[in-house]
Amino acid sequence: MCGIVGYIGKRDAYPILIKGLHRLEYRGYDSAGVALINPQQVLNVYKSQGKVSALEDTARSQDLTGSIGIAHTRWATHGIPNHTNAHPQVSQNGRIAIVHNGIIENYAELKANLLKQGVHFNSDTDTEVIAQQIAYIQEVEHLTMVEAVRRTLQQAVGSYAICVLDNAMPDTIVAARKGSPLVVGVGDDEYFLGSDASPIIEYTQRIIYLEDGEMVVLHKGQKPQISDLEGHERPYSIQHITMTVDDLEKGGYPHFMLKEICEQPQSLAACMRSRLVENEICLPEVDKDIDMWLNARRIIITACGTSLYAGMAGKYAIEELAHIPVETDYASEFRYRHPVIQKGDIVIAISQSGETADTLAAIDQAKQNGAKVVSICNVIGSSIPRASDSVIYTMVGPEIGVASTKAFTAQVTVLMMIAILLGYRKGVITESRYRSLVNELQALPQKASEIIKRENTIRDMAQAISFAPNVLYIGRGYNYPTALEGALKLKEISYIHAEGYPAAEMKHGPIALISQDMPVVAIATDSPIYDKLVSNIQEIRARQGHVMAIVTEGDKKVSQMADKTVCIPATAECLSPLLAIIPLQLLSYHVACLKGCNVDQPRNLAKSVTVE
Ligand code: G6P
Repeated sequence: MCGIVGYIGKRDAYPILIKGLHRLEYRGYDSAGVALINPQQVLNVYKSQGKVSALEDTARSQDLTGSIGIAHTRWATHGIPNHTNAHPQVSQNGRIAIVHNGIIENYAELKANLLKQGVHFNSDTDTEVIAQQIAYIQEVEHLTMVEAVRRTLQQAVGSYAICVLDNAMPDTIVAARKGSPLVVGVGDDEYFLGSDASPIIEYTQRIIYLEDGEMVVLHKGQKPQISDLEGHERPYSIQHITMTVDDLEKGGYPHFMLKEICEQPQSLAACMRSRLVENEICLPEVDKDIDMWLNARRIIITACGTSLYAGMAGKYAIEELAHIPVETDYASEFRYRHPVIQKGDIVIAISQSGETADTLAAIDQAKQNGAKVVSICNVIGSSIPRASDSVIYTMVGPEIGVASTKAFTAQVTVLMMIAILLGYRKGVITESRYRSLVNELQALPQKASEIIKRENTIRDMAQAISFAPNVLYIGRGYNYPTALEGALKLKEISYIHAEGYPAAEMKHGPIALISQDMPVVAIATDSPIYDKLVSNIQEIRARQGHVMAIVTEGDKKVSQMADKTVCIPATAECLSPLLAIIPLQLLSYHVACLKGCNVDQPRNLAKSVTVE
């Protein structure tokens, strides 16, 4: 949700900033902008509505010199996504330029004060208020930029990651964060700033993670100074990250989403690699607190979007295999609905990005109520793992496509491993069931790659769906969450209205919608309730509904009834969502391509939602 990048050093800043913005474009693409201080100490600001490529067109043939700069790609919160509201925002005296990710909640109050003092505003953004306030305090109180930023942030309520330039201090960038992510890259006599490490790793793998409520001053030729908003400095350590540039490239695929779908055989293997050792599930993150897990009174899973649907699949498994009651809740609801949390409850927070604002707030809420919080997260060192009591990383590398794919299958895999391990340790499942589930886990990467080979059949199914205004996804049991996630994938990237429904609930309402124009995607894989689903499909057929089905290899009944089918290899029922979702990911991908939609950057969405 907005990407920010900064550079200070010896090289030309502009190419580094632009490349960084391209890497961060998944965070928002409503507008983009860059500010540079040139060698003559002139602050040059270029902005453009739309994507980073539009900014490049605007900036071409302008003065792009300077070895210090900040840049931004925006997901609009305050003010429509036009040129004026694009960042950087500049103070009226032309000295201060700022880029910002987050929301300043008391901006109206601060703005009213500044208006009274005669400050003129150009934009509708909360960000301009911060730029103007810094400049105002600087002038009135004769403060340095560093002090003026500190004073301004002491007054700001809300969330932010900001980078600030002052053309009177052409060798310094000040940056700060609270509630929105910001990392510092440490090179040789040069520093980088990024909303995450992706704009930085091309230059250095040495990273400092800023903590909430901290500021960093980056001054040419000096070490970074990190302090809190009261000005107390803190020592810091530099961490080495393993992400590489290859992880951030499309690798020959037309879209990141397709790359990420197709790399699931490898990402599933990576997620399980150190966790399936000599045919045993090995989860040190669970083992270290095994008594807490075995005695858990209840588990509450909280997350947003795709991550919550992964959690729902986890609920089915933990309840079936480990006999621990599980509740799932949208983090945005959990944080405000006064949930009853008691001693012995474990809260599992799931997040790909580790930055989702509602999930972070839900963690706070859970901890305040005395629950232990375990997070399942993909981005190492992000805010959610740091706010949790412990973390299990999904280990699938960066996910760039806005629609989550490989992160979902990894989250479900981790949850299944937890469920199987706890079930075995509690004696709920037998040794032989445990062994057979471990074997099935091991076979998943190979089975996933067999599904990906069926892309042509899925493309064919996509043709049939691409003209539909609405699509219904149905499933039961473990594959009810798969239906929800399949529907979400379709609406996210192809803008076709889609709903996921438990198949048996059809007759309580949605069946009224069935007609030739409303195709139904049925997840009808092998399970003890397969025959029930067959009946649900019959009911749809009886009303002239078109059915596209995901079935298990060797299926007879549904394959004869459905208009089109895709087969997936047989697996244990609890692991079936991991395979059944893959054709649904490919289905939505191909529908979006057929409709000419922007697959990796769907309208109005952002990969990482760092505001409420
Ligand atoms: C956004 C993304 C979704 C994601 C959700 C939760 O809406 O577009 O793909 O599922 O946020 O994100 P998280 O990073 O917490 O899993």
